Amino acid sequence: MEGVKNSVAPTPSDCLVFDVNGETFEVTEIDPSTTLLEFLRTRTPFKSVKLGCGEGGCGACLVLLSKYNPVLKQIESYTGSSCLTLLCSVNGCSVTTSEGLGNSKDGFHPIHQRFAGFHASQCGFCTPGMCMSLFSALANAEKSHCSQTSPGFSTLTVSEAEKAITGNLCRCTGYRPIADACKSFAADVDLEDLGINAFWQKGDTKEVKVSKLPAYNPQDHTCPYTEVLKDEYKSTRILNVKKYSWYTPVTIEELRNLLHSGIVENGAKIKLVVGNTGDGYYKETEKYDKYIDLRYIPELSVVKKDNSGIEFGAALPISKVIIYLKEESKSNLSSGGDLVFTRIADHMEKIASGFIRNSASLGGNLVMAQRKNFPSDIATILLAVGSSVSMLTGNKQEKITFEEFLYRPPIDPKDVLLGVHIPFLEPTRIHGSVQSNWGLLFETYRAAPRPLGNALPYLNAAFLADICCDKNGILVNHVRLAFGAYGTKHATRARKVEEYLAGKKLSVRVLDEAVKLLKDAVVSEDGTSHPAYRKSLAVSFLFSFLIDLCGGSSKDLNESLLEQAAKSNKDTDTSPMRNPPLLSSAKQVVESSKDYHPVGEPMPKVGAAIQASGEAVYVDDIPSPPNCLHGALICSTKPLVRVKGISFDSKPKPSGVAAVISTKDIPEGGENIGGTAFFGPEPLFAGDIARFAGDVIAFVVADTQMHANFAATTAHVDYDTEGLDPPILTVEEAVKKSSFFDVPPHLCPKEVGDFSKGLAEADHKILSAEINLGSQYYFYMETQTALAIPDEDNSMVVYISIQCPEFAHIAIARCLGIPEHNVRVITRRLGGGFGGKILKAMTVATACALAAHKLRRPVRSYLDRKTDMIIAGGRHPMKITYSVGFKSNGKVTALHLDILINAGISEDVSPFMPHGIITALKKYNWGVLSFDIKLCKTNHSSKSAMRAPGDVQGSFIAEAILERVASMLSMEVDSVRNINFHTYDSLKLFYADAAGDLIEYTLPSIWDKVASSSGFMQNIANIEQFNRSSIWRKRGVSRVPIVYQVSLGKVPAKVSILWDGSIVVEVGGIEMGQGLWTKVKQATAYALSLIQCDGTEDLVEKVRVVQSDTLSLVQGGMTSGSTSSESSCAAVRQCCNILVERLASLKKTLQEKVGSVKWNDLILQAHNHSINLAAHSYFVPEGSTSYLNYGAVVSQVEVNVLTGETTILRTDMIYDCGQSMNPAVDLGQIEGAFVQGLGFFMLEEYLANEDGLMITDSTWTYKIPTLDTIPKQFNVEVLNSGHHQNRILSSKACGEPPLLMAVSVYCATRAAINEARKQLKSWGAVEGTDPTFLLDVPATLPVVKQLCGLNAVEMYLKSRLSHSGS
Ligand SMILES: Cc1cc2nc3c(=O)[nH]c(=O)nc-3n(C[C@H](O)[C@H](O)[C@H](O)COP(=O)(O)OP(=O)(O)OC[C@H]3O[C@@H](n4cnc5c(N)ncnc54)[C@H](O)[C@@H]3O)c2cc1C
Ligand code: FES
Ligand code: FES
Repeated sequence: MEGVKNSVAPTPSDCLVFDVNGETFEVTEIDPSTTLLEFLRTRTPFKSVKLGCGEGGCGACLVLLSKYNPVLKQIESYTGSSCLTLLCSVNGCSVTTSEGLGNSKDGFHPIHQRFAGFHASQCGFCTPGMCMSLFSALANAEKSHCSQTSPGFSTLTVSEAEKAITGNLCRCTGYRPIADACKSFAADVDLEDLGINAFWQKGDTKEVKVSKLPAYNPQDHTCPYTEVLKDEYKSTRILNVKKYSWYTPVTIEELRNLLHSGIVENGAKIKLVVGNTGDGYYKETEKYDKYIDLRYIPELSVVKKDNSGIEFGAALPISKVIIYLKEESKSNLSSGGDLVFTRIADHMEKIASGFIRNSASLGGNLVMAQRKNFPSDIATILLAVGSSVSMLTGNKQEKITFEEFLYRPPIDPKDVLLGVHIPFLEPTRIHGSVQSNWGLLFETYRAAPRPLGNALPYLNAAFLADICCDKNGILVNHVRLAFGAYGTKHATRARKVEEYLAGKKLSVRVLDEAVKLLKDAVVSEDGTSHPAYRKSLAVSFLFSFLIDLCGGSSKDLNESLLEQAAKSNKDTDTSPMRNPPLLSSAKQVVESSKDYHPVGEPMPKVGAAIQASGEAVYVDDIPSPPNCLHGALICSTKPLVRVKGISFDSKPKPSGVAAVISTKDIPEGGENIGGTAFFGPEPLFAGDIARFAGDVIAFVVADTQMHANFAATTAHVDYDTEGLDPPILTVEEAVKKSSFFDVPPHLCPKEVGDFSKGLAEADHKILSAEINLGSQYYFYMETQTALAIPDEDNSMVVYISIQCPEFAHIAIARCLGIPEHNVRVITRRLGGGFGGKILKAMTVATACALAAHKLRRPVRSYLDRKTDMIIAGGRHPMKITYSVGFKSNGKVTALHLDILINAGISEDVSPFMPHGIITALKKYNWGVLSFDIKLCKTNHSSKSAMRAPGDVQGSFIAEAILERVASMLSMEVDSVRNINFHTYDSLKLFYADAAGDLIEYTLPSIWDKVASSSGFMQNIANIEQFNRSSIWRKRGVSRVPIVYQVSLGKVPAKVSILWDGSIVVEVGGIEMGQGLWTKVKQATAYALSLIQCDGTEDLVEKVRVVQSDTLSLVQGGMTSGSTSSESSCAAVRQCCNILVERLASLKKTLQEKVGSVKWNDLILQAHNHSINLAAHSYFVPEGSTSYLNYGAVVSQVEVNVLTGETTILRTDMIYDCGQSMNPAVDLGQIEGAFVQGLGFFMLEEYLANEDGLMITDSTWTYKIPTLDTIPKQFNVEVLNSGHHQNRILSSKACGEPPLLMAVSVYCATRAAINEARKQLKSWGAVEGTDPTFLLDVPATLPVVKQLCGLNAVEMYLKSRLSHSGS
């Protein structure tokens, strides 16, 4: 097999040289810990690489790295995460970023154009990274597939296109349109399967569709810098620079000399480095003195094959190991070897994501497992197949078994792993010859929150069995059972089980005994989460591995079964999902309305192409002004403690630190204010007492963001609790201490009827049942960020990524003690907000402004993900206790709720919560509804609004109650929903004026429509049939309605017409991905077109919406509550009406003179006639400002009873958008909200420790949905009900309501679990079979498995044994 031998002598260099988008950079001075991302963002104009996580978990920072391979004489290109790639390691490389593929100046790349046209970019922060993933997939496809394709398409397949982006996170779109943009390049795509786009119309022929897609010709889009590279780097460039302490040995001898030479003497800290991806997990704060790059030592990068097996060099990237294994599996077709290699490769493809595997080395993974107990997948597999490793230990080279390697004490930083040997496996030879009916059985397993990787497993396993078959059954000659990642130091073998199984004929009894032994072997260390679940996974996996071989009576067992088993081609319900399908299909039904043209057109989002190319400017992309400093927050890690002082671990202060800003720095006349909202100001700094874990103690300011972060991370805070009360950390404690916030009377929701009367009418009651709901983190891709620039005359300009610049403006002025006219807050766009960029965005901004004010220098800050997750607050957790009375037919007569909301330390927007909860819960007719809702003040970070705040919980509570009622009555929950549906009269009773007219109550028809469009009744029958025949996979289906009340807000706008007829618009609403600017543009064009002159048809092209500037447009308010787009449109419409009125008489005069009047001429004349062409307006809604939104959804899921994994097979949604202002934008909001809801209900655990400090604080522990977790079939209809003349331009809101629909997935999962529990009961289980169970939110794998029975396998085996006695 061919290796990466380097026969061309490497060229040593003492200067770092590389290209970025064709521009050559020579770097003579650099800290070797500098990442490529840091360099690109601070030292080049290329800002498309975004920092989303800094730990390899999101893909926002992707670049294409190209390198000339002088041996193969070709360019090798691969994507890499620039946040982990060390700059020194790109020596000799060409780096391509998204703006390097194409841009607004040189022309966009077809990838950018298709992302824009398929509506695949909302906030745009993830988009450049997505584009790079796709570009690399296209480039690889062109190289590896030699087949011809039709013009305009790549050789990429649909499946490869989808897989290309499984490692990239997007929090806005819900992924479906991104997948469509990617699939549009695929050779095997069926264009009919692609969703709504700006290229073709429904009904266009295939030829027309192809002709309208932005042209793609692979030859035109190869890496444009190839020639430069070839000429510059004819040989491998290696870097040996004493100045920056980076060494690149090219032989083992050189490495040995380096490790034992002067450079590492005197206790110098060295770091061996390959891909540096390990830093994504460990985020080392330790500083290294020397770096030694292992990638250029040929022995560490070759693959050697001999008779005994294959040796992989330790520095080989995992992606290359996978390629070699796949190739090898094709050639090693005997003895099960092909199976082993195929399985290893398949498993490795679930490690991290493609872009990490491209640089993550095999050796790096194993050293992390050995030295730091990293929960490695590879270690478990290698243990099972009996591998060995070669090492350089001190001066000696040695070869030891992999098991020995693992069990050694952590290896020394100077020990080097050279290679890994995977043996060719052969079945046991008996008496010197292989038995005839022998076989090798090999399988690997992992259970993780995301099926396709980018998530560490709860447990992984790899099993190798050497078996033979005779007439009596299957005999186990030998077996190796390896388990890992379950909370042990490293992967282990279950030796007692292995010993027990060796020599046994497989039977259910033997398996039962093996399972018992296994449960003693797999024990997680103290402190590991879900230990019982992890143990049950071990049992499930062993069971899956062997059960099909324990076939009842021995006469069933024959050679073909053995063969089949050995090849593991089986696809039973116990086999692991090897290559789970991604999206099978998606259908969108949207209707455009022409009434207010161009409002109603599915126009692509404003700025989508520049978002894709990475040219769109976010706050952190604004170049730093000269002398700029960077800040990081130092937060308390304890609740309610006295802060005695801050010190730094290193003395003097860590490098670059300029100041530590705290309360003492608040100027005279200023106040300690870090934010203001509706309910008063909130402090910026904790002062003497930190009230909660996450409270800001100080703001450390340094010369770079890296130095500021480092200083904040290593700051040591002295605490003391003397004389302080214990903190309140639970809602129960808050109740005991009467620690509450008030809800102003006008925000209190209204009760309906008399509870005791309603309860008296009931046939059945459930009293004091409890539900607990946790929090959710926003996970906007762009974390909190601001840039404050002191200006003349004691004024301050602050750029903030914020949903309410006006509030920040006030807070900054008060903090600095300056008049408000001395502050200017500018916000252009947000990289996602979801409610999280209200108060917490002000914290960062006021801190920057205060530091800038004090130091008279610009100060900026971009929070690292961990700090952001600690301070964010997130969704409100709550405890709900309810009592409900109902009739025997399921009709509820009365409901009472006691809700304790954990609001955290301050009010924030919490007083709005009760209203949200109750309005969404009122979607059913409860007969009587009463409640007592308390806002508990606790020592947690203050909880804030998160998309559909309160409503998502209210809607969920309603469903949880009806589910419980249905199970008490043994009724179908769908019937219970039906019987509790509102009539129009009861709707009016519950919602008063917000209910609107009868004609607006579209829910009943939507409810029926979604049943027929999804084939609901047929699905129920199919699922019953499926569940009867499948033991280990159970399906469920659920149909759920939603009602969501919104209120219009006040919004200002200014519309100005310039000399050339172009129009500039300012609005209070902020563009944060929801398409507000696009709708505003359309509304402006519509409203100005009412002047009715020539040239107004394309007026939309003349409109530009510009950033919000609080001095230019005052009273901007807050962008929230789903209605800011429509209110902003109403405001611009008012401005346009004013302008039209001002222009009308001039137009009439001109028309009389010259006949038809052109828009541009009219405007020119208007300027000449001194007509005021700037109009300002403040839209204040009148009358009833509230209305209801409706939707209904059907979801179907499949639950794996063995692992607790839930697969969403299909979702059908119908959502009433009124007359959508832009169906493409609204569809994006609907799908994106649904997927964010999916995260809340199924995946995202936002957990704190006992002090209230968030511990799920990274992409490692917090799992938002990825492409592989959304519905396989995702059908959405944007209903144009057209009944809404009272609404702005007849439209309705859609930003938040569809999030509630994700509860359907939860309910379907509950239905599937119920089937598993019925089955468990049939096996004799008593516990865990009650149908009235509550499924916790989020319904993660451990939660689902727990309810399906952690002991399901044991119960099944017991039942089989009791029936057959075998
Ligand atoms: C987002 C993400 C997700 C991941 N998911 C998974 C997963 O699901 N399963 C899994 O198994 N792994 C996972 N990993 C781990 C990944 O496989 C490792 O980070 C990677 O293999 C390390 O290789 P590297 O070349 O980047 O090592 P580096 O980061 O360069 O080095 C890691 C450590 O090993 C040392 N080292 C490296 N090579 C050698 C050597 N040859 N001899 C001695 N010391 C050496 C280094 O000094 C350092 O201490 C994930 C990583 C990331 C970033
Ligand atoms: S920022 Fe690099 S992967 Fe997230
Ligand atoms: S568009 Fe993907 S994160 Fe916003």
